Amino acid sequence: MGLNKKSVDDINVKGRRVLVRCDFNVPLKNGEITDETRIVAALPTIKKLIGDGGKVILCSHLGKVKNGPNEGESLAPVAKRLSEKLGKEVKFISDYNVTGADATAAVEAMNEGDVVLLQNTRFRGKEETKPEEAGDAFAKELADLADDYVCDAFGSAHRAHASVAGVTKFITEKGGSNVVGYLMQKEIDFLGNAVENPVRPFVAILGGAKVADKLNVINTLLEKCDTLIIGGGMAYTFLKAKGYEIGKSLLDETKIDYCKEMMEKAEKSGKKLLLPIDTVCIDDFPNPIDDPSIATTIVDADKIPADKEGADIGPKTIALYADAVKSAKTVVWNGPMGVFENPVLATGTKEVAKALSETSATTIIGGGDSAAAVNQLGYADKMSHISTGGGASLEFLEGKKLPGVYAADNR
Ligand code: 3PG
Ligand code: MG
Repeated sequence: MGLNKKSVDDINVKGRRVLVRCDFNVPLKNGEITDETRIVAALPTIKKLIGDGGKVILCSHLGKVKNGPNEGESLAPVAKRLSEKLGKEVKFISDYNVTGADATAAVEAMNEGDVVLLQNTRFRGKEETKPEEAGDAFAKELADLADDYVCDAFGSAHRAHASVAGVTKFITEKGGSNVVGYLMQKEIDFLGNAVENPVRPFVAILGGAKVADKLNVINTLLEKCDTLIIGGGMAYTFLKAKGYEIGKSLLDETKIDYCKEMMEKAEKSGKKLLLPIDTVCIDDFPNPIDDPSIATTIVDADKIPADKEGADIGPKTIALYADAVKSAKTVVWNGPMGVFENPVLATGTKEVAKALSETSATTIIGGGDSAAAVNQLGYADKMSHISTGGGASLEFLEGKKLPGVYAADNR
């Protein structure tokens, strides 16, 4: 891929107004932040810019904002938490218009090292529209507040939105720099360059419910890796494609041929494609999902009874997958091996996380569920990199050009 983007280390922001797009899309419960990972991940860049004497203007979206601006999706709780983390005031501009008189006045009053946080960028519906439509107007208003632009919002880098990519055009027009922050740089280094140019053997582990969600990533990783391991709900469509009966297990009927194609592709190119050889079966999907009293039976992958459904990988599969991880030098993992939300059906996911924690290989965890699983199981500090992006990390692994990455200036 050869990504060589300018970073915050390449610019001098002293006395300059710097607009920083972060991904502060954190989960909230009753107005309280329940996972501050994304806020913590943004701190190195923010601290660097403060330390260099920049005037730091932060922006982000939060939530989907389907029904217009509302207090439930305000960035106010983020301003508060961020201020605690930085140990200094983060001036929050609560104006639902995001830009405008309040934001302009606050920026004008800034001294070197001050920090301002704008309101949720999705409160401006225009954030969502195509740049050539009204999104351009909002992008220009954002650019008008600043001299330079830093994108550190890896989790949003797959969105061609005004605050993620559109703004760069206007910064360039007035002679400013568009660079990536430290978080973005780390994500590019691990997900991009490590996958493009991995130390081998390179093992990729994919899980999750649906084959349909992972079509391109399966195809791309099969080309790059030495061994591709499949687990989770989507493994059953592969087993079906092998001609096995899978009972009531998850089946992506329309993707059976695709799975056959992938198995042939692996065979032809001499890649190992590992599928479950045994599986943990249940009678019905747990309700509630974390019901700890659910009964299970373990069967070989080609002997799933007609009235049962697979819900996790079995012990023989765990041993097989752990063994593949042991001899790897680079491992990328995206997607749980079973219904990990249930303590009885989390063993496969847990054991794969454990295997990754014990290897000396470079271990890269895609965002979303696999990151949540690794955090929840307490292995986070044992991994080389845990991505802060869900959809973004998947699209990056597919080899797609993420708008937020590509908008930054080249070195
Ligand atoms: C995420 O959490 O997926 C990112 O913040 C992007 O949000 P989005 O999926 O709503 O665009
Ligand atoms: Mg998303």
